[in-house]
Amino acid sequence: MNELAGKHIVLGLSGGVACYKAADLCRQLIKEGATVQVVMTEAAEQFITPVTMQALSGRPVYGSQWDAREPNNMPHINLSRVADAVLIAPCSADFIARLVQGRADELLSLLCLARPAQQVPLLLAPAMNREMWAHPATQRNLAQVAQDGAVVLGVGNGDQACGETGDGRMLEPLELLDELIAFFAPKRLVGHKVLVTAGPTFEAMDPVRGITNLSSGKMGFAIARAAREAGADVTLVAGPVHLPTPRGVRRVNVQSAQEMLSAVERHVQAATVFIATAAVADWRPSSASAQKIKKDGSGNAPALAFTENPDILAIVAKSAHALEGDLFCVGFAAESHDLLAHATAKRTRKGVPLLVGNIGPAAFGQDDNALLLVDADGHRELPRASKRVLAQQLVEEIALRVPSRRARVSD
Ligand code: C5P
Repeated sequence: MNELAGKHIVLGLSGGVACYKAADLCRQLIKEGATVQVVMTEAAEQFITPVTMQALSGRPVYGSQWDAREPNNMPHINLSRVADAVLIAPCSADFIARLVQGRADELLSLLCLARPAQQVPLLLAPAMNREMWAHPATQRNLAQVAQDGAVVLGVGNGDQACGETGDGRMLEPLELLDELIAFFAPKRLVGHKVLVTAGPTFEAMDPVRGITNLSSGKMGFAIARAAREAGADVTLVAGPVHLPTPRGVRRVNVQSAQEMLSAVERHVQAATVFIATAAVADWRPSSASAQKIKKDGSGNAPALAFTENPDILAIVAKSAHALEGDLFCVGFAAESHDLLAHATAKRTRKGVPLLVGNIGPAAFGQDDNALLLVDADGHRELPRASKRVLAQQLVEEIALRVPSRRARVSD
């Protein structure tokens, strides 16, 4: 989607087995529209060759502060002045220690030290053995580089090249890509706690059957991702869907509407924004059989009785928290026709300040959609686009309607 279009990234590689992942990361950055200048330490060149990185980035790789290709012989100045960010991936324990000390005896640390820190952020993707990661020296150094302004992106957990298992793996290329995209996103919801419901619910008839619907959860997951990128603390209550959890989002899995309501009630008190995208089943079988309901061969289907499910959005919108103005509620409406009329009526009926209408059959399971935003002042169309773009636009619209909590971040 070219989310990094126009961004020039200095991708620094220090020594570590995870250098092999840096090759893919370089490709992903370029695929997303960035230009990439690779700088490698001598140790990194033990793990992957500059030839590979040059081929993938389409630019000569730099490795020495004495590189005579620069007319002024100052690659540390020239490369850092044109960057939108410096991303060190992998960032070894040794390299972190070098940053802490402000070392400048090789190009990559020299470049980090010489960069104009206010304009060119430094992001670190640590990669090391779990013992090295857990060592107090490393943790102390990480705290120090963070205090000095670097953004430490965290590590993954799992099998390590040394055969051990634990914390310290470099994040995967796509995770790092998401982190970088999030880093550049405008921080419109800093200080907000956003609660999102997404996906369908599943209402059991017996242990193996139930009623559900075709909601894919894509819109809600995209909104959770966009809200987190905008700086919010996000909790996503998800019905049964097979979608990966957006990075940095807390996910609570539920099945039924009643479970969704309890999960929402547990988290809504702390929330400042509630976005109900879930396609909650309207009814559930009044009693779920403990055993599989068997066909008896009589030709008669079992008579099932249904009970109406709680309307989660309406309950939340009527809570004291929302009525006192501390919680901004957003509802969705999936309609088949007369979208404006139905969305306007639903906004009033549910008692929410913002209702987002869409044409259900054109939205369910699709990667793109079109939205109609209805509030007390009127309506606005968000024309057909990917759910990713629409989620970003919706977050922007919500941010315009909620009080800024930026000043309260340090509370
Ligand atoms: O009434 P209807 O299902 O059309 O309303 C849709 C909106 O209400 C959506 O925001 C949906 O997430 C929410 N909803 C809910 N609980 C229900 C039914 C709908 O939160 N039981």
